[in-house]
Amino acid sequence: MNTLFACFVASLAVAQVALGDDPLAAAKCRSLHHVDVEPVGTQYMNQNCELDCNVHGTVYHHNMSEGLACPGLNATKNVCIGGKCVAPIKLGYIDIEMSSASLAKAVSAYADVCLQNSSTTVELPIVNRTTCVTCQTKVAPTSTNPIWGVVCTGSHNFQWVQESRVTFELWEQGSGKNTFGGGASLLITELLAHGDSHKSIQLSLARGDNSGKMTVMVTWTPK
Ligand SMILES: *[C@@H]1O[C@H](CO)[C@@H](O)[C@H](O)[C@H]1NC(C)=O
Ligand SMILES: *[C@@H]1O[C@H](CO)[C@@H](O)[C@H](O)[C@H]1NC(C)=O
Ligand SMILES: *[C@@H]1O[C@H](CO)[C@@H](O)[C@H](O)[C@H]1NC(C)=O
Ligand SMILES: *[C@@H]1O[C@H](CO)[C@@H](O)[C@H](O)[C@H]1NC(C)=O
Repeated sequence: MNTLFACFVASLAVAQVALGDDPLAAAKCRSLHHVDVEPVGTQYMNQNCELDCNVHGTVYHHNMSEGLACPGLNATKNVCIGGKCVAPIKLGYIDIEMSSASLAKAVSAYADVCLQNSSTTVELPIVNRTTCVTCQTKVAPTSTNPIWGVVCTGSHNFQWVQESRVTFELWEQGSGKNTFGGGASLLITELLAHGDSHKSIQLSLARGDNSGKMTVMVTWTPK
């Protein structure tokens, strides 16, 4: 019985050293909470971007070094964002030109672009455009090869995160309602991977009643 008890105490002590012996974290937590903290569960996490403080059994999370280089890492370009150590957000300016399309069916078509300042995925066609900065061309005469040559003005006035989503849509003008001809949705990084900045990119149109490609030009200027 005595041996068993001693064993139990010993393993508990080892566990405390292994999991909870972070004196810097404990000191920081004490200064933040003005109370003593439990050693187990009091620790720096995620390259010191997150601090966990175990105050009498309740663990409080703190986001540390927000926007600064991750303190736990040695020679890195990563920064602390929301308690995680991640690659820094790259910002830049984008210019978009909707040049033309090459379609299976001749239609009177216009193109529409939705620029979102995030990578959030969209369903085509986009129904709720509240998070979009949009730009639209005029309706081109009926053709399988509508030509717009429209440069979206204004989008280069804002800075965008490089993981922004750009969605191109082709709409067909009908007598009553306009019909969705097809679209393509990519991140700026993916668009740039199609070719150098400021070169024509051919995007396959999907999910609409037409098919073919839209030619666009995207110029990305890092901040
Ligand atoms: C820090 O970087 C040096 C040089 O690259 C390396 O030798 C060392 O192991 C690194 N230390 C840690 C904690 O990653
Ligand atoms: C830390 O950042 C995350 C992600 O942004 C957020 O959800 C959380 O509320 C933040 N925690 C504190 C304590 O500010
Ligand atoms: C559209 O999206 C915004 C932001 O996500 C939301 O607040 C709004 O309720 C949505 N509107 C509709 C009609 O779904
Ligand atoms: C996009 O997000 C970045 C980072 O949060 C911000 O600096 C920038 O102003 C935003 N741009 C637009 C157009 O909302």
